[in-house]
Amino acid sequence: MRIEDPQIVAALPEWGVDLRSGSALADLTSLGIGGTTDLLRIKKHEAIPDLLNLLDSSGIPHRFVGGGSNLLVGDGELPWVVLQLVRPEPDVVLDGNFAQVDAAADLGRMVTFCAKNDLGGMEGLIGVPGTVGGALRMNAGAYGMQIGSYVREVKLYRAADRKLETLQGDQISFEYRHTSFAPDDMMLAVKLELPSKPFKEILQGIRICNEKRRSSQPLGQKSAGCIFKNPPGASAGRMIDELGLKGLNVGDARVSDRHANFFVNAGKASATDMLTLIADVRERVYSAFGVELEHEVVVWNG
Ligand code: EPU
Repeated sequence: MRIEDPQIVAALPEWGVDLRSGSALADLTSLGIGGTTDLLRIKKHEAIPDLLNLLDSSGIPHRFVGGGSNLLVGDGELPWVVLQLVRPEPDVVLDGNFAQVDAAADLGRMVTFCAKNDLGGMEGLIGVPGTVGGALRMNAGAYGMQIGSYVREVKLYRAADRKLETLQGDQISFEYRHTSFAPDDMMLAVKLELPSKPFKEILQGIRICNEKRRSSQPLGQKSAGCIFKNPPGASAGRMIDELGLKGLNVGDARVSDRHANFFVNAGKASATDMLTLIADVRERVYSAFGVELEHEVVVWNG
């Protein structure tokens, strides 16, 4: 989708929005898959309601992207423009046990920065790629913790009200890889309350999680993390592994040899290749175990 209306193109810089025409989503996603569209990079949160009103009244559909690390985007010319926040400097401000973090902050860097200031709790998230906004929306978690446990306040663009709002932590529900935010709400900033812990102790926890991750996940390869959610009481990776599907491929889309719930782009995989592989594995798991696996990865396909 291209923004061609000269009035819109002229309004964007006034709002601190940078238009990158014909951007490849493959360059914005950790899977390295995705077609092209116009990318709007937003510097000021305050510009978002006006920008979205203008896009909506001009009939231009849009989607929000964070770090693109849990996203499978379709091929070819995409039917919506993509909005992304520009990371401000500084992106994390500490006040006692509270961390005020911009949604565009890198998750791992935020965890490390807090750790260096003796604020812990999020050791499990080290090594999870993506932005804080993406982690918040998905309630990212690993090794027994989830980011939602530490959230005290969220600033967001609330699509239903078409304005910027601040929600208190107890107004949001955080479940396993799911939150009560609406699909077209846009995360802008979060206030976390983190337990005090000496840096040395946090570092030890980080090292343990890093080691576990390195030994069980294909870290150097292009992936979107786990493709399927774990069904209650079971492991999608173990089920796929038990069926002997590691290495199964459709073109360059491949079930990782290291962790069967990671599907990697081993070269020039298309979204169609990846979606075909996902559907095939899902079908085989259903036939063998009677379990319908649910996507963990967010799919934008049309
Ligand atoms: N297993 C296999 N074969 C495999 C993969 C796993 O037998 O190919 C077995 C493991 O040996 C283990 C069990 O399955 O006994 C669970 O595996 P693992 O500890 O790797 O955890 P997981 O359930 O597969 C979840 C999260 C990961 C998170 C890890 C660590 C989901 C869908 N996945 O994986 O999160 O990093 O725990 O906490 O919840 C993600 O969300 O993208 C993600 C990677």
